[in-house]
Amino acid sequence: MRKKIIAGNWKMNYCVNKAEDFVEEIKDRINTDEVDVVLCPNFVSLDRVSEAIYDTNIKLGAQNVYFEDKGAYTGETSVDMLAAVGVKYCIVGHSERRQYFAETNEIVNKKAKKLLEKDVSPIVCVGETLEERESSKMFDVVKEQVEKSLDGIDKDMIAKKVVIAYEPIWAIGTGKTASAEQANEMCKYIRKVVSDMYDEKTAELVRIQYGGSVKPNNAKEILNMSDIDGALVGGASLTNDFVAIVNYD
Ligand code: 13P
Repeated sequence: MRKKIIAGNWKMNYCVNKAEDFVEEIKDRINTDEVDVVLCPNFVSLDRVSEAIYDTNIKLGAQNVYFEDKGAYTGETSVDMLAAVGVKYCIVGHSERRQYFAETNEIVNKKAKKLLEKDVSPIVCVGETLEERESSKMFDVVKEQVEKSLDGIDKDMIAKKVVIAYEPIWAIGTGKTASAEQANEMCKYIRKVVSDMYDEKTAELVRIQYGGSVKPNNAKEILNMSDIDGALVGGASLTNDFVAIVNYD
């Protein structure tokens, strides 16, 4: 039985004081062990949010990382730096990073491997554009993203540590959610890709989230689908809506 994982990706929102206040406001209501709850604030707020959640089951996540250990990489942040403030998960390959910061599958793969080497779980994002969906290329696009992003990662790691997030780009921040069936169809397909890359058992164990306009009014339907093991929540993770999503059941 795969445990659900619900992560809030705050993106570039909330300065440190606001981040801390918000966590204080909601933490008791999202402190559960029924599902894994992850908060992904901006780098600058990680340490303070880490302190605010230290006595809860809530886990800390980052939104990005660099794949080198240390050195002359101005502006970058290593996995050790993240782990030192309590980061347990890190989003890699978000479509906004692929689109605005030229993050490729190869870069995503390097980041995922470096995170795993240091025992931090990568949340590997994949998903197609509207144009790719409308021209029925979405399965090929997502297959390539999954295969290249996970290339060379040990199957034990896939089963136990890696999280895949299916986020169709046309559903991010648009209020347009993929229907629960569309989301489930792609998550099921991703599981098949993992099965072909590794084996059925690994595919049965890997957790696959859906992300894209998840809100309190659609969370339950989405999270009850057979192949969807959680949600990666953007806009709604910045408000009390996140409490309702975590408590969807
Ligand atoms: P929204 O929930 O705002 O659509 O964002 C989804 C997302 O990109 C999470 O990573």
